[in-house]
Amino acid sequence: SIPLVVAIDGPAGSGKSSVSKAVADRLDFAFLDTGAGYRALAWLMLDRGVDTADAAAVVAELDTFDVEIGTHPHRHFVRVGETDITEAIREPRVTAQVSAVARVPRVREHLTGLFRSVAEQATEAGIVVEGRDITTVVAPDAPVRILLTASEEARMARRSAQITTQSAETVAHALRTRDRADSQVVDFMTAADGVTTVDSTHLDFEQTVDAVIDVINTAR
Ligand code: C5P
Repeated sequence: SIPLVVAIDGPAGSGKSSVSKAVADRLDFAFLDTGAGYRALAWLMLDRGVDTADAAAVVAELDTFDVEIGTHPHRHFVRVGETDITEAIREPRVTAQVSAVARVPRVREHLTGLFRSVAEQATEAGIVVEGRDITTVVAPDAPVRILLTASEEARMARRSAQITTQSAETVAHALRTRDRADSQVVDFMTAADGVTTVDSTHLDFEQTVDAVIDVINTAR
């Protein structure tokens, strides 16, 4: 049977990844972090010395972009070829390049195709797919579509608590720059028609997970 797709979008620092993973875990669903696909490509461009500002050069690498994203909520991994880059894709030098590769239309088509085939092939009862354009582009027909938001202040605070190797100011600046670049490509700040907003500003982690599960249970 076809897995139930739960589409979750939101900005950086909204808690999207950790909440989606916890929801998948509770429901015995698979979990797909689509940002990891864009990060893996950004990592590969750094590894191969390709200038991410050169869209044609980035597109030329897609044929040999052999990425695998683990979909089990407990055994999350990202590989390019034989190389495990699960940790490496979180490095600030990768984060700084990711918006540049994500704005290339050919890149988005390529990864969208990959995400759809991963979702279709999930063997679990459902799959939580999270990113920026899942509710609008990757899975606009998904039976459950959620926009996870939080105030900018809350998002900055959460992100700087996660990243301890940089000052709060550096983290906030990088986050704002990335949100601004990304929002020129896809709108992940306003809920599209039929998309349910969950605002986590005043919710703790468990309350946010519960709120998302409530939306899923109401819809399915
Ligand atoms: O979610 P995460 O912060 O890991 O995403 C990394 C980057 O990947 C985003 O800043 C954005 O440029 C890109 N992205 C995207 N569309 C998605 C998921 C991520 O453009 N569906």
